[in-house]
Amino acid sequence: MLSQKEFVRVSLEINLFFQRIMKEHLFFIETNLQKVEAANIQEAHVLKKSFEQLLSETVSYANGVISEEAIQANEFVTPYTLAAEKTTSELTGASINTRITKEELQLVSDPYCNYGERLEEIICDLNNRSLNILEQVIVFQKKLIDLSLKCKIFITLYDELLEHVTREAIYYRATLKSLQLRQKPKKTLCEELNFWNNIMGEHAQFIDGLLDPTEEALKDRAESFAKMFERLVEECAKLAEKEILERSSGATEDIRDYKSAATKGSLECQIKSIFPPLLGDHVLREANHYLRILKTLSG
Ligand SMILES: [Fe+2]
Ligand SMILES: [Fe+2]
Repeated sequence: MLSQKEFVRVSLEINLFFQRIMKEHLFFIETNLQKVEAANIQEAHVLKKSFEQLLSETVSYANGVISEEAIQANEFVTPYTLAAEKTTSELTGASINTRITKEELQLVSDPYCNYGERLEEIICDLNNRSLNILEQVIVFQKKLIDLSLKCKIFITLYDELLEHVTREAIYYRATLKSLQLRQKPKKTLCEELNFWNNIMGEHAQFIDGLLDPTEEALKDRAESFAKMFERLVEECAKLAEKEILERSSGATEDIRDYKSAATKGSLECQIKSIFPPLLGDHVLREANHYLRILKTLSG
């Protein structure tokens, strides 16, 4: 059972991370559908705006309440996020609310922060509203997967990527549902690690597939990351806890550095690719989030 304080802090941290992730998925969908899909583009846009609204509320309550570890993890925003948003919005013509990002860059932790029951009620309501929009997002993304698999739409995102972002949404939904019951999600170590190791491996596959064919060195590294994470998933049940945690942490630190370099390279136009800087920053934040989970699990 989570205490009132833990419920408020963990909810804010989970929402700060995932509301941004969700709205970026919708941004990627919005900008990768073809003109003829005006209704789906509009639906992605509206859902993106809904999550931006929720995120902006979360940010306004988070100041002082969230932990120093969460801020230091660079999972809410990284030093690249603002520049990546500006460039990606200019290049695609789709809107991104950068005011939220600027506010997030100012977030602090205050161990003496005092808040009462009122905040618990507000956060409980925020979680419920997030769950409602999330439900719509999952239905929308599943519809797109179905249309894409039947070749009824042409979207320049892999089917695997659409499934990947939907899995992240489902993971977020399960987390919110447990939080509403004042519990942390119940998962075995391998369930948690396999979820994220799969996610990390798929990021490597996506980057590999979105780099220009001439970027051979970067593509080779992406391929070896994909294999490494695949192996970690296969081996989880066979290895001792300490070993799988250590190996997962090592692999994730390495892919974090790779993603960080790729985001910087993309921003500086030093890498040939068909992904925008915001996609690099997005997967970098997911690695940072996973590293914080790994730190907590390692004790
Ligand atoms: Fe994502
Ligand atoms: Fe992801």
